[in-house]
Amino acid sequence: MTVPATPDTPPSTSPPAPGRDAPTASQAASPPTPEEREATSRQLLRLQEYAAGFFGVWTLDLGLRHGLFAALARHPEGLSAEFLARELDLDRMYVSIWCNAAYSEELVEYREGKFFLAPGLHAPLLEPDSPVYFGGTAKFLGALRDAWGFLDQHVRDGEHSWWDQFPPELSSSQADSSRTFYTRLLRKGFAQVPGLMERLGGSGTPLTFVELACGRGAGLVRLAKAFPHARFHGIEGDEGSVKAAQEAIAKEGLSDRVVVEQKTLETGSFPAADVVLMNIALHEVQDKEGVVRHVVRALRPKGTFLISEFPFPEWEELPRLRTPAGRVMAGVQYLEGILDDQLLPPVQFMNLLRRSGMREVSSAELAPIHILVWGTK
Ligand SMILES: C[S@@+](CC[C@H](N)C(=O)[O-])C[C@H]1O[C@@H](n2cnc3c(N)ncnc32)[C@H](O)[C@@H]1O
Repeated sequence: MTVPATPDTPPSTSPPAPGRDAPTASQAASPPTPEEREATSRQLLRLQEYAAGFFGVWTLDLGLRHGLFAALARHPEGLSAEFLARELDLDRMYVSIWCNAAYSEELVEYREGKFFLAPGLHAPLLEPDSPVYFGGTAKFLGALRDAWGFLDQHVRDGEHSWWDQFPPELSSSQADSSRTFYTRLLRKGFAQVPGLMERLGGSGTPLTFVELACGRGAGLVRLAKAFPHARFHGIEGDEGSVKAAQEAIAKEGLSDRVVVEQKTLETGSFPAADVVLMNIALHEVQDKEGVVRHVVRALRPKGTFLISEFPFPEWEELPRLRTPAGRVMAGVQYLEGILDDQLLPPVQFMNLLRRSGMREVSSAELAPIHILVWGTK
């Protein structure tokens, strides 16, 4: 999509004519009112919190990628910065800086010369299958460093890119960050869809479960383990992700029931399916109407289409962006913009399903950043 360029109008730089009364600095700016002063101190505090949050993200990123949190968790008796560095074969000074930063951010505790993982952080940082896992998101934020560079370079010309143009760390950390989406689907999402759990858990004729845009296959592996009588077929456009998915499936010994192929969804050649899932992926597809039509064609009678997505607020509910979940989604839009798409309000997915002739279209919020929309053929 190209946006018509607006001609730049350079600001007037001519000085006031000599002899005229040019305002002095003190005249130009009248002293701030008490309300303005208060607003400024509120904003300053907020800006400082953003700076602190920025450093918090880097502390999380470094600590997760280099095993600092995991090492502290292995040592409940605590470790000095020096021993932590030695255990991980890292530089002593950098580890000491990290320890102080992590302490300032309340990610670690300090007692008598030793650092400890702060209480309540084991599951969010170190348990990928926990419903409260946050480590993937933290790594994903760090991996966005190249995306920021891209945006900085192309904010004027509006050029876009795709997953395969970024280092594999972006898609691997994205896969890690979407684990909690699959966890929620398995723990409570599928149960919201009438009859779905019974069909998936049944031991009669095996169901065919198709996941479109399955990424690196982490979801397929979890689904295949949860429903041992079903067959799974993943389709994904990014070559690197397909290879990673195939490796993960082989490593788990699931190759007899789970296959993944590289294909652009717009080709529409999907196997006959009882259930089709798209996890945080339909918003990325350029021809959404076309892909949904292909899904409906591939579904068997009474088949289910599950769309698991971010619920981006509609224009009328824009204040919802000023919640923690809203701020995360507004931030995710930067990457979506680079990929030439945007997160969408759930009503748009529901309307897509209705227009395609699906019945019983419904939705359930699984978390403030997660909605499940479904329909029956
Ligand atoms: C945000 S990722 C989600 C991946 C996976 N479902 C997960 O939750 O981890 C979106 C995926 O959609 C894939 N994708 C986007 N548009 C596609 C298209 N038109 N055809 C095939 N794959 C596509 C991307 O390659 C990427 O792997």
